[in-house]
Amino acid sequence: MSELYIGLMSGTSMDAIDAVLVDFSDGIRLAGTHSHQLPPSLRSRLSELCQSRPDEIERMGRIDVELGQLFADTALELLEGAEHHAGSVRAIGSHGQTIRHRPRSSPAFTLQIGDPNTIAERTGISVVADFRRRDMAAGGQGAPLVPAFHAGVFSSTSHNRIILNLGGIANITIIPAGEPASTSGFDTGPANTLLDAWCQLKKNQPFDAAGEWAASGDVDARLLEQLLEHPFFSQPHPKSTGREDFHLSWLQDELARLGSPIDDADVQATLLMLTARSVADAVASSSMEKGELLICGGGAFNMALWQQLQGLLPAWSLRSTADFGLAPGWVEATAFAWLARQTMLGLPGNLPAVTGAAGPRVLGAIHPA
Ligand SMILES: Nc1ncnc2c1ncn2[C@@H]1O[C@H](COP(=O)(O)OP(=O)(O)O)[C@@H](O)[C@H]1O
Ligand SMILES: [Mg+2]
Repeated sequence: MSELYIGLMSGTSMDAIDAVLVDFSDGIRLAGTHSHQLPPSLRSRLSELCQSRPDEIERMGRIDVELGQLFADTALELLEGAEHHAGSVRAIGSHGQTIRHRPRSSPAFTLQIGDPNTIAERTGISVVADFRRRDMAAGGQGAPLVPAFHAGVFSSTSHNRIILNLGGIANITIIPAGEPASTSGFDTGPANTLLDAWCQLKKNQPFDAAGEWAASGDVDARLLEQLLEHPFFSQPHPKSTGREDFHLSWLQDELARLGSPIDDADVQATLLMLTARSVADAVASSSMEKGELLICGGGAFNMALWQQLQGLLPAWSLRSTADFGLAPGWVEATAFAWLARQTMLGLPGNLPAVTGAAGPRVLGAIHPA
């Protein structure tokens, strides 16, 4: 049976659909990669959908299918570039686009869209999707789901390792040396989502390339302490978060509460430090004193963030996941190919110690080719 799987990922940053073709026949090998930028109009309609507004079911219904078509086309472009046929692929794992994640509401719920029926129909490949809701139904946060994959790929017998995924939101996977079964992990807070939003508002650019703008400013200690008062940071784990907790209007309210105006670049510098501090605090809470910190996600290209992190974590050796065989931009999409394979094999994909679910669960729904 084919051991080729496709992973499709579009995270909270809403920057692009990342697609990977993964060959699991001998470990993990990327047989192809492709990224499809989200068209600006779709991106802004999706952002609007992330907040409750009139007529949202009608708009969601349309965008759900539209996004499914785009996911399908991205998978087909990936296959064309990699010179593989749809028939050789066992399944697609499609994360979908999160438009709501409310792990603390009662009942808790989460919603990812990008119609898997449309993807299966257009590609002729079986699709596994809707990974998060089964974990939530079992009492979990439905997130993060990448730690099981991280533990499978990045564990070490000799080094403590923490995998840091810097997407729109940051999450860590803590893997003690020689004890992958003791893996834990959680979301630490915002990574790029506020940095992107502030940069878009003030510079009309979707992100702060290499963190240069942030590096040009000074951290405002008062604002930093005020932002760190957000209740998410002191909440015990299991915990997960999203754009519902950390968004532009929250930042603007906090700036207004501060009373005195701050230079735009200093706000960006402070937001960068907010990411670095919340990650460093989470690492400190792991009770591991030193080890290797493997960085992935788009934030891995933010040099200013690396510098601040290294300053706060002198005992940790900061490395790119590329040094361990997986380029930082493709780790999450690869995780969803892996999760699809778990489901097709009838194996669980969640780690109850991470999500808080009552037990291991086979995740997602299969939409046959
Ligand atoms: N060269 C770069 N410099 C700084 N930040 C970058 C760079 N490239 C990507 N990023 C950041 O990474 C984000 C995308 O990261 P990604 O891992 O795709 O997140 P998500 O999973 O939320 O989509 C962008 O929105 C941007 O903030
Ligand atoms: Mg992305």
